[in-house]
Amino acid sequence: MPKHIHVSVAWPYANGDLHVGHLAGAYLPADIFARYHRLKGNHVLMVSGSDSHGTPISVEADKRGVPARQVFEHYHRRFLQTQQKVGISYDLFTHTDTENHHKIAQDFFLTLLERGHLYKQRQQLMYSALEKRFLPDRYVEGECYICHFPDARGDQCDNCGNLLDATQLINPRNKSNPSDQLVVRESEHYFLDLKRFEPELLAYLDRHKDRWRPNVVRFSRNFVADGLQGRPITRDIDWGIAVPLEGWDDKKLYVWFEAVMGYFTASLEWARNTGQPDAWKDWWYNPQAEIYNFIGKDNIPFHTVIWQAELLGVNGIYNQVDDANRYDADLQLPYDVPANEFMNIEGRQFSKSRNWAIWLPDILERYQPDAVRYYVAATFPETADSDFAWDGFLSRVNNELLATWGNLANRMLSFAYKRFDGKVPTYDMLTPDDEAIIAQSEAAFEQIGGLLEAVRLRDALQAAMALARDTNVYLDRRAPWKTIKDDPADAARAVYAVLRVVNNLKILLAPFLPFTSQKLHEYLGFDGQLFGDLKIVEYTEATRAHEALVYDGSRAMGRWEAGTLPPGQPLCEPAPLIVKLDPEIVEQERALLGAPRDEQPITI
Ligand code: MF3
Ligand code: ZN
Repeated sequence: MPKHIHVSVAWPYANGDLHVGHLAGAYLPADIFARYHRLKGNHVLMVSGSDSHGTPISVEADKRGVPARQVFEHYHRRFLQTQQKVGISYDLFTHTDTENHHKIAQDFFLTLLERGHLYKQRQQLMYSALEKRFLPDRYVEGECYICHFPDARGDQCDNCGNLLDATQLINPRNKSNPSDQLVVRESEHYFLDLKRFEPELLAYLDRHKDRWRPNVVRFSRNFVADGLQGRPITRDIDWGIAVPLEGWDDKKLYVWFEAVMGYFTASLEWARNTGQPDAWKDWWYNPQAEIYNFIGKDNIPFHTVIWQAELLGVNGIYNQVDDANRYDADLQLPYDVPANEFMNIEGRQFSKSRNWAIWLPDILERYQPDAVRYYVAATFPETADSDFAWDGFLSRVNNELLATWGNLANRMLSFAYKRFDGKVPTYDMLTPDDEAIIAQSEAAFEQIGGLLEAVRLRDALQAAMALARDTNVYLDRRAPWKTIKDDPADAARAVYAVLRVVNNLKILLAPFLPFTSQKLHEYLGFDGQLFGDLKIVEYTEATRAHEALVYDGSRAMGRWEAGTLPPGQPLCEPAPLIVKLDPEIVEQERALLGAPRDEQPITI
């Protein structure tokens, strides 16, 4: 029975280009996982979008002197292009400024209010005498009262990861104006009453403690154990989703309160736009479905506690319709939250302001998407912070991706193409050695599939590469380029066996290297696509249109299973799969780190 797998991917703030940290933290793991499950024949729904609200956007808008909407539209468009290029196969990548998202977020708010999960309270906030307004969290910096990191933000400390209130900072200052006088003033806000969900949240965390990564369990438990206080879900800002109540015109919903709902709202948007408006319930109300949240570690409490509280609080929403997809079940909470740690760059933490960053649009101009995917996946920060180092990139691409995998495939394809008349060799029998390597490649599906399902992606990639290495050893032992003269029948056996294994490795590596695997599929003489198409399309809503990235799986034919390779099948003339990198790139790329980068002007 195919399973329903929901892949919820963190929504990037649309205030700057995507960088390798985004790729390593959430998007590439999510894509590998989704592609695997599609090959397995499971029903995958992978959604995300641009997080278009919140102070990260308005801070950038102020800096660049343009309206917030222009900032988010500019980066949203670039997100679509970048992710299409690197092959992040969202069923839907939308944004949070759609009418659909606004409407559902307001429905969530009203439902929570009606059920008594929200309360109103006057709050002490940082008010700027200079700017004559309440300063949003991110505009305030100061010392963290927990770990005493000197540059904590008003919403969160990047050093210890704890969520903060700006008023809790020691010596708070206005980030853009250090000489400003900050005073504490009162303002009325709605709070989500997290305490009401405490027993359910504790039980939920307990049920998942064996499945989740230890750091995610630990962080979430501590978050709850520290005492669940009510959290304000409205803000004194003008860019965001309106509070759907009279007299609240000068306030908006808090970005984190509504952005996490995007996993849900995008699922409905996808369903409506694919002509099956209730299909989203197969994931959200189906107790057999599994929802995975792919996020970076700085997002953990929002995805293991706060989002769960919101879902518990609106349980039953939109499930009244009497349709074929109705379930007598509760709204589903995330099944796993495989948060990654951080990927540093050449030993130092990512910094946008110091341009200590590797920007995806830039490197995708210079390197193959699968080279980037390979290196990032091989160094995924799954259990600890990892490091993107350009000499590591060079050596992994040249010595592993190219030498171990690309050359194996290219060598055998070219050999067969030249010496066996452009066809998969026909053979009389296979030696036990030939049979053993084929059997090994067939057994790999279960082993590597198990690792992928457990979201141990680095291990899965390593296991596939170990098979490629073993195949090289086998090939050197069999040396068909030597036997071809005196014993062509024996050469045919070996070449056939290697091509059979390559054909299996093509699938085993496809979630990681979709572009290379597709090419190889064609060189091996097969038609059709392993995966579907990733397109940028225009979605139309009631009054606005917007661009989205969508995966169309209707033509996908790849299957996660060992394949046959008919002897005599015509091959296509092969070309090298992987481009060899010049050692000079290491110094060239390092020189760009920390140097000023020309930002694309915002033109929309
Ligand atoms: N925009 C946030 C960030 O970049 C992530 C939001 S994830 C969401 O850190 F689920 F809340 F949308
Ligand atoms: Zn701290």
